[in-house]
Amino acid sequence: MSKIKAAITGVHAWVPDYILTNDELATMVDTSDEWITTRTGIKARRILKGEGKGTSHMGAEAVKGLLKKTNTHPDEVDLLICATVTPDMQFPATANIIADKAGIKYAFHFDINAACSGQIYALTTAAMYIQSGMYKKVIMVGADKMSSIADYTDRTTCVIFGDAAGAIMLEPTTEDIGIIDSIHQSDGAGRVHLHQKAGGSVKPASHATVDAREHYIYQEGQAVFRFAVSRMADVSVEMMKKHNIEPEDLAWFVPHQANNRIIEATARRMGIEKKQVMINIQRFGNTTSATIPLCLWEWEDKLMKGDNIILAAFGGGFTWGAIYLKWAYNGKNHR
Ligand code: UT7
Repeated sequence: MSKIKAAITGVHAWVPDYILTNDELATMVDTSDEWITTRTGIKARRILKGEGKGTSHMGAEAVKGLLKKTNTHPDEVDLLICATVTPDMQFPATANIIADKAGIKYAFHFDINAACSGQIYALTTAAMYIQSGMYKKVIMVGADKMSSIADYTDRTTCVIFGDAAGAIMLEPTTEDIGIIDSIHQSDGAGRVHLHQKAGGSVKPASHATVDAREHYIYQEGQAVFRFAVSRMADVSVEMMKKHNIEPEDLAWFVPHQANNRIIEATARRMGIEKKQVMINIQRFGNTTSATIPLCLWEWEDKLMKGDNIILAAFGGGFTWGAIYLKWAYNGKNHR
């Protein structure tokens, strides 16, 4: 009997309407369109506005769209995993709230927190449940309302991030398609360079933590940049070598969208051309757990059954990794 693999059978995303441009940011902090564009490649990002709307609002919209386009009844979903660093609340898990809003009752739902790599950690985890034969329909959602933890008085971080959600459906296949391999690594020593200081059990929220602005993203940009470039490239090149993938054999490289310079450096190390790389950071910024599903959704039309694709991410933790997959359907027929 052929081995069961997990195939991506649909992808959908949702972004808020509000577009925060570099020019508007320049009215809020001491920055410029020129600095942000040359240092990051970002021109605009989406921001979720509205009282009472959090990460689950975006995640649920992405999941509802995914159910509709894959013709899936909510009762058919066995498992929903949400990758996020901006949960609606400390508990319950945002996966529970998204599932409830999307009409998915009594399935298995949980969150994964691996910062920007959460999306690939969650995708690999979702795939394992399919490969084991345990489940038939598993949804992975990557969703983050980064505007809820971005400090709009700190020009070094607030210009990078945006809000979005993306959802991916995984189903079993015995064809030569689907998720072939994953490499994931982490290094907790990296936490000093990228974290949120307060609001957890070490430093619960207090007037003092609010006054000290400790509920926002703390990032040592240059240190994170150096690790991101080397780790994301190392793991992507390792994946190519492991599976004898020559640069010309790769249909698409789908990198986490953290900084255009990190993406370009990684592509150079892989020996691939710019036209093989999905890049939409200029319009959405760094949406943390949503960047890869957001790219797959935007490029879906161009994806062909059998396409060799490598996904790669790097994020807080530090966490990083790569997934090698063969695309499972002709995207044009799937909108
Ligand atoms: O999502 C996964 C994890 N995150 C990442 O992968 C992010 C990795 N890091 C980066 O992308 C970059 O380090 C940043 C975009 C965050 C910063 O870019 P950089 O080229 O590393 O800038 P820098 O921190 O070295 O700062 C250079 C200068 C500094 O001024 P001085 O000290 O040279 O006078 C900063 O104060 O640029 C200044 N600066 C800014 N100037 C205008 C920093 N942010 C801004 C800004 N506008 N927004």
